[in-house]
Amino acid sequence: MRHHQPWTKDSWRNFSALQQPDWPDHQALDEALTTISALPPLVFAGEIRDLKNQLAMASRGKAFLLQGGDCAESFSMCTASAIRELLKVILQMTVILGYAGGKPVVKVGRMAGQYAKPRSADTEIVDGTELPSYRGDMVNGSEPTIEARRPDPQRMVKGYFMACATMNILRAFTRGGYAALDRVHAWNQEFVKNSPQGQLYEKLARQIEQAINFMRVVGLDTNMPQLTQASFFTSHEALLLGYEEALTRQDSTTGDWYDCSAHMLWIGERTRQIDGAHIEFFRGVHNPIGVKIGPNHNIDDVKRLVNILNPENEPGKLTLIARFGIKKIAEGLTPLVRALKTEGFNLVWSCDPMHGNTYATASGLKTRNFINILEEIRAFFEIHWQEDTVPGGIHFEMTGADVTECVGGSRDIVDQQLAQNYQTMCDPRLNAEQSLELAFQIAQLIRDNCSTNL
Ligand code: PEP
Ligand code: CO
Repeated sequence: MRHHQPWTKDSWRNFSALQQPDWPDHQALDEALTTISALPPLVFAGEIRDLKNQLAMASRGKAFLLQGGDCAESFSMCTASAIRELLKVILQMTVILGYAGGKPVVKVGRMAGQYAKPRSADTEIVDGTELPSYRGDMVNGSEPTIEARRPDPQRMVKGYFMACATMNILRAFTRGGYAALDRVHAWNQEFVKNSPQGQLYEKLARQIEQAINFMRVVGLDTNMPQLTQASFFTSHEALLLGYEEALTRQDSTTGDWYDCSAHMLWIGERTRQIDGAHIEFFRGVHNPIGVKIGPNHNIDDVKRLVNILNPENEPGKLTLIARFGIKKIAEGLTPLVRALKTEGFNLVWSCDPMHGNTYATASGLKTRNFINILEEIRAFFEIHWQEDTVPGGIHFEMTGADVTECVGGSRDIVDQQLAQNYQTMCDPRLNAEQSLELAFQIAQLIRDNCSTNL
């Protein structure tokens, strides 16, 4: 099949879809999807257009995308405190990055729907027994038993409601004053004052303080809605096409189709085949779309993919999320950026410095080293500066909790400490402190570049 037949929200069914669960009961699957189709959308088309406009600014270097959250959200962590703590760190990073770059930060959570995971192997061996892999809470349970690992389509219905609950509290926090600039700034001050890690960033924090004071001095009211409310968007890897189809709705004001399961969706490294079902589905919806690109890409295929997903070359429509790993980014990203620049594509280039840097420790825990994450980001920025293209955003796996999943950072978590608080359902996340440190480090990187170019 090729993508030249007319698009409908179920035309993807004529293509091959990788990484779909092996649902044991097809009637139960149809029932679950019918239920979801009748439920209200999670987001509204107008909001999606607003995000697309903000991303269009990011594609021109007039805004910067910060996307982050869990590798896999879990139903059991759908609590006010877990959501609040993650939102808090994202907002803190926003102030730091916004100040350093001198541009608005587009905030997108890997939240309210990040419940389905692609896996490199269909099964895993636990204590000598072969079990189907855990594929996210929307598919099966993570407990290592045959029963828990059996895919259950009712989990998609439950996932819809979990996403609703998450969305609802996010809207409350971001509209209700929790996200006010004064508060977020005060949290950053606290981090800088009260932790030895934070003290390294005192100078930058003082400059931010001065900028906010200056606003007050010139009579800008820090209570105005622009400064007390944050626009915050949701995203997830759009893996389960049945679920995405069930939430795809026609906008009554424009007649266009939107996938209303989240504002932004991305296509993973494992499901971006040119002739695959995921590309077919996403060529027809009007949301901003992300595509992960790793070392194993073919440049001509990426060009085709860009043309299929964004035939009108609309700015803000397409974000390419580079995930090469520290060892491969220079050799892999440079020619790709150059080739796509020649084509004149309007793109947001974002950097996922997590997925190419994963490795297992001697004890078998998956981890990532802070320094590799930071160095991949540095390489990403430097490549774009050199090629005169725009480093438009970053993409993190992170949490607001004090976990020990990634090694390094100025507290210098070492391999042996990982087991102390290793909570992730899937890949290792930055903890709150490591996330803030990275934001300060990136801020310094951006400011150093500005001053050398003055
Ligand atoms: C992810 O973002 O969790 C993921 C699976 O990434 P990738 O598709 O880049 O491997
Ligand atoms: Co991941």
